[in-house]
Amino acid sequence: MKFFIDTANLDQIKKAYKLGVLSGITTNPSLVAKEGVKFEDRIEEILQAVEDVESVSAEVTPDVTSAEEMIEQANELIKINGGDKRITIKLPMTLAGLEACRYLTKKGVKTNVTLIFTVNQALLAARAGATYVSPFLGRLDDISEDGVLLVEKIAELFAIHNLDTQIIAASVRHPDHVTRVALAGADIATIPYSVIEQLSKHPLTDQGLEKFAADWSKVTNK
Ligand code: E4P
Repeated sequence: MKFFIDTANLDQIKKAYKLGVLSGITTNPSLVAKEGVKFEDRIEEILQAVEDVESVSAEVTPDVTSAEEMIEQANELIKINGGDKRITIKLPMTLAGLEACRYLTKKGVKTNVTLIFTVNQALLAARAGATYVSPFLGRLDDISEDGVLLVEKIAELFAIHNLDTQIIAASVRHPDHVTRVALAGADIATIPYSVIEQLSKHPLTDQGLEKFAADWSKVTNK
């Protein structure tokens, strides 16, 4: 399973990229709004800050609801950074979003169909040619449904039907989500920087480092 970072914060993207574990970036209107920056400018800054990643998701804005408007917006977004091929148009899981997905896929543009909460939605998006689908597991868990089970079922269905759409486990809240979606067959987990940090930690690692340092200081102080 690959890691994407789920943020529009440039410092966090740069810090995660330096670790060498990042394959992509996802943003959404809420994440961009939090940064108080111009959307297109931030996407360009992200593309310029990271070299070898496969995808940078730029979502059509929430005021755009028809397929025609989504396509019009996508046609502007794909020009960013000199027509960077990593730009992935993130589309909502609506009928208009599916129509836009099929059109953009035929044009060779990468797409990410977002706000997926059922297996049927994922199947529709895959049939519309989506490069990625994003099931939101944390938000399902929030309403007492099993988000990881959804990822597992989508992975099973895509395998049965030989669908090459990649599953991005989204709305990931903690390290246990990461382990479980990896085992459930997600291709990618898009996670906040705080969760990337948590993944690297264990109390016994910290204790071990303290012991090494204490033992080493005994020798070096002699
Ligand atoms: C995915 O692409 C979304 O940006 C994201 O994972 C949503 O997560 P949230 O439920 O924490 O807002």
